[in-house]
Amino acid sequence: MSQTWATSGLDLHLDLDPAAGRRAALEHALRDAVRTGRLAPGTRLPATRRLAAELGLARNTVSAAYDQLVAEGYLTARRGAGTLVAPLAHPAPARTAPEPGPADAPRHDLRPGSPDLTLFPTADWLRSTRRALGAAPADAHGYGDPRGRVELRRALAGYLGRTRGVQADPERVVVTTGYVRGLSLLARVLGGPIAMEDPGLAFHREVVRHAGARVVPLPVDEDGAHAFPDDVTAAVVTPAHQYPTGVTLHPARRRALVDWARDTGAVVVEDDYDGEFRYDRQPVGALQGTAPDHVVYAGSVSKTLGPGSRLGWLVLPPRLVDDVVDLQRHTDRQAGAHGQLTLADLITSHAYDRHIRSCRLRYRRRRDLLVEALREHAPLGVSAGLHVLVRHPDEDAARTAAAARGLALGGFREHWHRPGPTTPQGLVIGYGTPAEHAYRPALRVLTEVLAGTR
Ligand SMILES: Cc1ncc(COP(=O)(O)O)c(C=O)c1O
Repeated sequence: MSQTWATSGLDLHLDLDPAAGRRAALEHALRDAVRTGRLAPGTRLPATRRLAAELGLARNTVSAAYDQLVAEGYLTARRGAGTLVAPLAHPAPARTAPEPGPADAPRHDLRPGSPDLTLFPTADWLRSTRRALGAAPADAHGYGDPRGRVELRRALAGYLGRTRGVQADPERVVVTTGYVRGLSLLARVLGGPIAMEDPGLAFHREVVRHAGARVVPLPVDEDGAHAFPDDVTAAVVTPAHQYPTGVTLHPARRRALVDWARDTGAVVVEDDYDGEFRYDRQPVGALQGTAPDHVVYAGSVSKTLGPGSRLGWLVLPPRLVDDVVDLQRHTDRQAGAHGQLTLADLITSHAYDRHIRSCRLRYRRRRDLLVEALREHAPLGVSAGLHVLVRHPDEDAARTAAAARGLALGGFREHWHRPGPTTPQGLVIGYGTPAEHAYRPALRVLTEVLAGTR
C-alpha cells in the first residue's frame, strides 16, 4: 500500500510493505523516510487520528508505531507539541556527488567571470516579483511567446536604447537564458564557419562547436578585432571591452567591421557582456546602433545581477528573427516567465538602473585600488568591466605561487585558439568576485605574489 500525506504543508510518500504486519510496515516506512532525509529533523508528523484515517489503519496501530520510533530515537514526542522528527538523530547519508563546499573555494578569488554575488538586489527583486506576479495575467503561467514575455521585450527595448544606443524594436528581441544560449541558437541558425576573437573565451568557442559550427580565429590587436575573413557566416566580437585583453574596438575598425558585414552578408554578433561598467570615459555605444540590419546585439544580466538568474537577450536583424524564434520554440519553448516578468518590473521601476549605478561605484573603487596595487605591472583594459590583464613571462609559475597562498587567478594562454610555446602569457585578474570585506586582503596577496614571481 502506498500513500502520500501532507503534513505542515509537506507531501510525503510512504510505501507500506503489504507482506509485513501493518504496524511493522508503518515503522519501517517512517524509519526509512527519516534515515534518507525525506523527513527532515523537526518535521511535525500528522496526528495519529489523521494518519490512521488516511492510511486505513487503526489509530492505536499508528500510536504504537510512533511510540516505537520515539523509543528508538527517530522521533520525539512532547505534550502539546505533537510528534516530531528528532534533531539529527539519524543524519541522512552523504550525497553520492558531494557539492563543492567552502573547503573547495579559494581563500582569495580574483578569477574573472563573476560579479560580486553578495550585491544581488534581493529586496528589489522580491518587490518586483510581488508586483509583477500580482499584476500578471493568468497566461503568464502558461506556454508563451518563444521570443519571451512582451513586458520584458518592451522594457529591454527601452532600456537598451536609452543606456547603450541599441535600436531595439520589441518584435526583434528574443529573451534567452543567457548569452551562451543566444550564441548557441545563432550558431545553429547561421551554421559555420564562425570567426571568433583570438584571444577570446575558450568556453564560447566550445559552445559554437557544440552547436555544430566550425570556429576560425579573428585576430585582435591593441585596436581590437581586425582582418575580417570573407568566407564566414558571422564574426563574434566584444567591441566595448574585448575579452580578455580589455581593448576597445577603434572607431575605424567599427566602421570597417560594419562595412565588411554589409559587403559579405555575414552577421556581426556583438557580445556586450559588461557594457554597463565603464569608468573613465563616456560609455562606448553599442555597435548595433549603427547597423541594426547587420549586427546581433547580445547581452545578459550575468554581470549586473549574477549568472544564476539565467536571463539574457538577443536583438536581431529582421532576416534572422523567424529562424531564431523557430529554433527557440523547438528547443526551449521560452525562458522562464516569472523571472522575465520580475526583470521587466525591475527595469521599468528603475531599480535596475539604481542597482547598476551603485555597483558601478563600488567596482570603480575596486578598479582604482587594483590599478594602484598593480602600477608597476602596467595592467591593461582598466577603463571598463570587471577584470584587467597583466602580462607575465610565466603565468603557470605565478598561478602556482598564488594558489599556494590561497589565491586563485585566471590565466591568459588558455584564451588563444592555438596556444604554443610563443603564445603571450599573463594573468587575467577579476575584481568582481570577492565580497567587499575580502577585497583588500586578496589584493595584498596578489601584490606579494607578483613581486615574488617577476
Ligand atoms: C565574454 C563574456 N560574454 C558573455 C558572458 C555572459 O554569459 P552568460 O550570459 O551565458 O552567463 C560572459 C560571462 O562571464 C563573458 O565573460
